[in-house]
Amino acid sequence: MLPAYVPNSMAAVFGGGRPIDGGRVLKDGQRILGDGKTYRGLFVGIACGVLLGLLQMALLNSLSEFTDISLPSFSYRGSHTIVILFSLASGSLFGDMFKSFFKRRFGMKRGASLPLVDQLDFVLGAWTFTYLSSPEWFLMNFNRNIMVTVLIITPLLHLTTNVVGYFIGVKKEPW
Ligand code: CTP
Ligand code: MG
Repeated sequence: MLPAYVPNSMAAVFGGGRPIDGGRVLKDGQRILGDGKTYRGLFVGIACGVLLGLLQMALLNSLSEFTDISLPSFSYRGSHTIVILFSLASGSLFGDMFKSFFKRRFGMKRGASLPLVDQLDFVLGAWTFTYLSSPEWFLMNFNRNIMVTVLIITPLLHLTTNVVGYFIGVKKEPW
């Protein structure tokens, strides 16, 4: 899940500048996505997620040679490393954008809290993109127990990192 987690944090650290919706408003009077979704956050986030995955791949063999730690591989038969990593990283931020679109439709302002959805949007986005692009790899790596574990651990991890992000000043809200 790391290549799906990292884009979110890196978007918060490096995001800003031109919003993806270009400031446009829909008929309901609300922004399409809002100022919290920017091109810089999207591109830097995806790049960091893919790079982290490549680093994991580079460490894969040496780690298992010298330690008991085994990392998952991001390649499997017909599925290609770069496609899998791009799906995990971009799916994460597209899930997050999809959520923002609906938050705005419900009249929720940027940063308004939507419990559980805010903590799981990127997991569902990453899984959807990865399942669609690399179904064999997805089914090899995510069985039911792993998915349930991810759904329980992620909100806790997300809240912890966001509280840290809030105190170091990269997040406007601690959620
Ligand atoms: N961010 C960004 N571009 C993205 C995603 C996130 O620049 N594609 C940055 C923004 O600075 C954003 C911060 O990361 O404020 C935290 O992201 P998030 O909590 O998802 O956004 P919110 O500001 O809470 O906006 P929303 O209500 O739409 O979720
Ligand atoms: Mg938020």
